Amino acid sequence: MTRTKYHPASIFFHWLVFLLVVAAFIVIELKGQFPKGSEPRELCKSVHGVIGQLIFIAMALRLMIRLGFGVPKPTNPKPLFISLAKAMHWLLYALLLISPIFGILYFQYGGKEIHFFGLVWPQLVTPDPQMKKVVEGIHEFLGNSLYVLIGIHALAGLWQHYVIKDNTLRRMLNKANV
Ligand code: HEM
Ligand code: HEM
Repeated sequence: MTRTKYHPASIFFHWLVFLLVVAAFIVIELKGQFPKGSEPRELCKSVHGVIGQLIFIAMALRLMIRLGFGVPKPTNPKPLFISLAKAMHWLLYALLLISPIFGILYFQYGGKEIHFFGLVWPQLVTPDPQMKKVVEGIHEFLGNSLYVLIGIHALAGLWQHYVIKDNTLRRMLNKANV
């Protein structure tokens, strides 16, 4: 379905996910400051895990809103830019839904419990140090790819706003008169 504006819930979840992703990145970078096996290091991983699960839920809700209510047409009329914007948006959805799954598998292959506000996940896989390494590599690769993709996406948004001077950023802030 095509609309002329973003649904307010789409806008809310867009910026909520942005804040959660920044928090997830800060916490996991902070982890590196503490020695291996130390309590603060483990705490950083757990907090990162909870934020990651919240990102998954927020992205899933956002996807449902997008599929139910639709999104406005891309602002840039050039077919190349339309394709690039669409590819970027779907890639962001995919990576932000897939990364948490690998994060959960990482914990479980390592034999660690995953908590979510008092709930404990059932064990889905048998702990396996080799699989833990594989899954860790994939999770790190996805996480690091997200740094790059989100950076490009944010720069593209700012470019549309400050250089092209169109409504792209304003409509994601619910301030556009379209
Ligand atoms: C979309 C959500 C997520 C993003 C963007 C994300 C991103 C990242 C990034 C960038 C790293 C650092 C990789 C590196 O050291 O180069 C990382 C590490 C880690 N993530 Fe996530 N993550 C997400 C969700 C999760 C979830 C849901 C869990 C677990 C329930 C999790 C568990 C971990 C753990 C344990 C590490 C540390 C691995 C180590 O010991 O080095 N992540 N994540
Ligand atoms: C974690 C960070 C971010 C993610 C995952 C993300 C993801 C997305 C996605 C999937 C869309 C497509 C619309 C939708 O389905 O809701 C979108 C649109 C948009 N994003 Fe982001 N975004 C992030 C951060 C940012 C930042 C920092 C900016 C600031 C410049 C920004 C600016 C925009 C704009 C202007 C649009 C509208 C594009 C259009 O209408 O064609 N985003 N974003």
